[in-house]
Amino acid sequence: MERLDKVLSNLGYGSRKEIKQAVRKGLIEVNGELVKDNGMQVDPESDRIIVNGEEIFYRKFIYLMMNKPDGVVSATFDNRDETVVDLLEVEHQVFNPFPVGRLDKDTVGLLFLTNDGELNHRLISPKWKVDKVYYAKIDKKVTEDDVNKFKKGITLDDGYLCKEAKLEILNATDEGSEVEVTIQEGKFHQVKRMFEAVGKEVVYLKRIEFGTLKLDEDLEEGEYRELTDEELAVLKGF
Ligand code: URA
Repeated sequence: MERLDKVLSNLGYGSRKEIKQAVRKGLIEVNGELVKDNGMQVDPESDRIIVNGEEIFYRKFIYLMMNKPDGVVSATFDNRDETVVDLLEVEHQVFNPFPVGRLDKDTVGLLFLTNDGELNHRLISPKWKVDKVYYAKIDKKVTEDDVNKFKKGITLDDGYLCKEAKLEILNATDEGSEVEVTIQEGKFHQVKRMFEAVGKEVVYLKRIEFGTLKLDEDLEEGEYRELTDEELAVLKGF
């Protein structure tokens, strides 16, 4: 059980003071009864709470899929740059979601945000071997030799030996290539540094899959939506 005003202010219905005023105006009902005490104890999971004629949709956790745009940082706060959390509507910001893993400022595509710490922990733990799939444009011709090197494990500039990665060539010319790369790790600038290690440069990077999640192609860059029940069930069942 929790205080009604706390539940409502956590859900973004205003400050506790504002909720007290709404109670005084007779705008809040719990299980069909007009509320007289803003501090009354409620069970937000089972009590039917109505504010201003509308039933509240209570949930503790929120799960969002974003198509991250270029130029925005994967953080909850930044002194200089706009963050992915700044792109969220207030109704989602009130849950204090954070990005699960990071994409570089100039990387676009699938970013998963949640306030579910346990799921976050599971998805970023190397133990669970979560696949991350990237579509990339490369400045030079990617070869079968590169595919083999990625399979064997690339050594990065700091000496770190990457785990096996799948590199698939979509098309390759002397002017540049398009590829898909699947990695299970998430070292800083990993995909870019893997290509640097074979003398090539990533000129465009987009994440298209994260674990069982696939980027919804209907989301424009900068847009996001909540996961469907099915996406969430599959992701949790990992
Ligand atoms: N690898 C990178 O180099 N950058 C990203 O944003 C993600 C993976």
